[in-house]
Amino acid sequence: MYSIIKYILMLFLASLSLVSCKQKQGDKIKVGFSQAMTTDDWRKQMNSSIKIEASLQPEVELKISDANNNIEKQIDDIERFISNKVDVIIVSPIQSKPLTAVVEKSIKAGIPVLVVDRKIDGEKYTAYLGADNIEIGRIAGRYIVSHSKGSCKIIEITGAIGSSPAYERSLGFGQIIKENKRIKIENTIHGDWEGESVKEPLKAILLSNPNIEYIFAHNDRMALSAWETAKTVGLEKKIKFIGVDGLNTVNGGIELVKSGVLDGTILYPTGGNEALKLALKMYNKEPIAKNNILNTIVIDKNNAEIIENQMDKVDQQQAVIDSQQGAIKIQEKEYASQNNLVRLLSFFLVIILSLTIYSIYSTISISRKKKQLERINQTVIDQNNEIQEMAQIAQKSNEAKLNFFTGLSHEFKTPITLIMSYVESLIENEKIKGTTLVDEVKLIHKNSNRLLRLINQLLDFRKIEEQKFTLRTSNTKIYEFTNEVMTNFKGEAARRNIDFQLTCKNKNLELFIDRGLMDKVYFNLLSNAFKFTPDNGKITISIIENHDNTVKISFKDSGIGIPENELSNVFNPFFRASNNNKNSSGIGLHLSKEFVLLHHGTIELKSKQGSEFVITLLKGISHLQPSEMINKEENLDVTPNLISDNLDIETELNVVNVVSESEKHTLLVIEDNIDLVAFLKAKLSNEYVVHTSDGSDAIEKAMEIVPDIIICDINLVDKDGYEISKELKKDLRSSHIPIIILTAQSDKESTLKGLQSGVDQYLTKPFSLSILKQSISGLLFNREKLRYYYTNNIYRIEPESKFGNQEQSFITKMNDIIKLNVENPKFSVEDLADKLGVSRVQLYRKVKAIIGINISDHINNVKLEKAAELLKSNNMNISEIAYSLGFSSPNYFSTAFKNKFGISPKEYKSSN
Ligand code: FRU
Repeated sequence: MYSIIKYILMLFLASLSLVSCKQKQGDKIKVGFSQAMTTDDWRKQMNSSIKIEASLQPEVELKISDANNNIEKQIDDIERFISNKVDVIIVSPIQSKPLTAVVEKSIKAGIPVLVVDRKIDGEKYTAYLGADNIEIGRIAGRYIVSHSKGSCKIIEITGAIGSSPAYERSLGFGQIIKENKRIKIENTIHGDWEGESVKEPLKAILLSNPNIEYIFAHNDRMALSAWETAKTVGLEKKIKFIGVDGLNTVNGGIELVKSGVLDGTILYPTGGNEALKLALKMYNKEPIAKNNILNTIVIDKNNAEIIENQMDKVDQQQAVIDSQQGAIKIQEKEYASQNNLVRLLSFFLVIILSLTIYSIYSTISISRKKKQLERINQTVIDQNNEIQEMAQIAQKSNEAKLNFFTGLSHEFKTPITLIMSYVESLIENEKIKGTTLVDEVKLIHKNSNRLLRLINQLLDFRKIEEQKFTLRTSNTKIYEFTNEVMTNFKGEAARRNIDFQLTCKNKNLELFIDRGLMDKVYFNLLSNAFKFTPDNGKITISIIENHDNTVKISFKDSGIGIPENELSNVFNPFFRASNNNKNSSGIGLHLSKEFVLLHHGTIELKSKQGSEFVITLLKGISHLQPSEMINKEENLDVTPNLISDNLDIETELNVVNVVSESEKHTLLVIEDNIDLVAFLKAKLSNEYVVHTSDGSDAIEKAMEIVPDIIICDINLVDKDGYEISKELKKDLRSSHIPIIILTAQSDKESTLKGLQSGVDQYLTKPFSLSILKQSISGLLFNREKLRYYYTNNIYRIEPESKFGNQEQSFITKMNDIIKLNVENPKFSVEDLADKLGVSRVQLYRKVKAIIGINISDHINNVKLEKAAELLKSNNMNISEIAYSLGFSSPNYFSTAFKNKFGISPKEYKSSN
């Protein structure tokens, strides 16, 4: 852009210089004309003709200076021309002598001088132009000689003394007159070229000498004045007047001849136009004559008319030329302004063209660059796509690997659960109690527990990566919490003589923490500390309350520490310190950090003597979202696999409920892991009748058995646990059966999916047997409560829409059918099952499950309710009511009625 502006500026300057060059070329030829005076018409005509000629020469710049008949001024005027360095000077001198020097000066200055009309002394001028004044005097003399009758007296009136025409005219005139002895110049009057100078001297002469026949005046103005003077003395007709100049103007020589005032006049051309032509020739250094003589002629009454006509024509042509000149000047002006406009337009055209070229150039180069950029862009997009594809492939393969490991980890959980459950049973088994076997079994339990922890870490790592963790904090006394976790390490500390301490000034200090996650953090840090602290070492947990609303929990050990240059890496996944020779997954610290960050806290490591991990947590709840806080009771998601926990389980396990076989509730376990099935069967058979299915016949079995509870795994061969649950909950025959999902998938989505499929309880593996048992009895208890409700509100059960429960609608529908057929003695249970679309057995089991009594009893109850209604109406007697409701005898009706309401029908009727 800068270069194009430069280019336009250059163009502009070039245009300007073009204009200025043009002006230089058009430099005019300066011609200075020093005119003696302009008081008379001859001089005016001279000026006019020189101007006309100049106007015909566009290169000429004519400057006329009028000396006003003042010799000093004329000298000054010429001096100015010289100093202004005009190219040529034309001088019409007032007098000859005084101007000689200044003309010579001009010649010396290199300015040529053309002298016109009157002469200067000497020859130091470039050229002279004018008529031959001696000849004019001679012509006048000859005219008088030829027109006189032999003799005559003449008065000569000369021009101003000192001017060459006066001298020369007089000289020539005298030469001719002298030749004729009878013709005599009686008097000579020395005029000054103007009429006034004539009057007085002439009058005096005429008065004293009235016989004068001719008066020759050196110009027409003086001749007219002589005529006027003669007239004053009455001699104007007697005397003949001859003048010089012969101007074709008002009172000019020609008019005076025509009017008879003058007898004749000798033409004395001004030579204005010839003077300018000569000046140009002088400027151009063309060869010219020194003396350029203009022609002259006598004008008398014979040719005055013709000459006047010719001169008129010349004047007319002059006028035409004048007007044409005027028109040309206007056109020149127009041309000049148009020329300027054209130049301006050309300039702008050049700019527009330049800009157009530039914009075309720019457009082309922009489009080229655009194309280039597009190509680069496309390449980048292609590369990006390639990278994305590769990233996707990498991610997919990574996902696949992770899914494989996650799946595998889930798979590991079931056998570990089994191992641990059996081991827990073994620990408390009376047969091995007190033997060395117990220690070995505890070792198995400890290592299973460790394995489980590692698997959980792997699963947590995946969960953190997928950002699936949500904080579930509850208000926790941190001292108690720490102490509880420490309990698990106290045995090891004692065994290895490690000084294991907790310091905390405020034992009531409360923090909102996710106890499940923080338990994992503590376990990690403590496991590490114990791993790297030698026997007889020291491990201290310090809880310090800061002034800035934070709490520091420090885990300090006297172990080997971590090299300083590796400190920043310890929280990176899969990091292992260079001085660590022990087995390590490398994700424990990474997970710990992520869990602390979830709490909006920080964790840092100091390692000088041993290692010190410092967790900083915020007090209060302002940093937590409402969704990140739960009730204290809910936050029990702590791995229930510690021996202490399991002792409780076993305590419960060992409580043998003595339940007769017929009173036992029925369970259906849908699980494809044979070991787990065997374990559950072994542990639950005391209290429940346990049926099993590997999943392939789950629905059929559920329909056939109509169990009181279903325990179902998720990952099954045919249909998964969600599908089975959904189907069972949809079917009227099984919709009432509570379902417990038992799965290794503990993430939120899986739980949600389980609940959406209608399951009643969701337990994750490894599960605590006590929790499972608790869940079963809890669900059965709830079922009992519901049954109580149904039994006691048999006629007030709300329609399904209100409670959204299939069972309610089932009972309502069933009751409606019974009520419709209550007076039909042939209406059987089979008819009812048919109308409800279930089998007799299913109806029996479903009704038993929901309302706790068998269907025939329920129908009887409905009949008895109806009987009570009829007894109140008092329209029928007891026998009629008994038969109408299908009772076999009034006695049987009375017994049944009394059983239900406590009073006989008779008493009931009379009480109402
Ligand atoms: C004009 C004039 C003419 C005459 C000439 C002589 O000023 O007086 O009439 O012929 O000068 O120089």
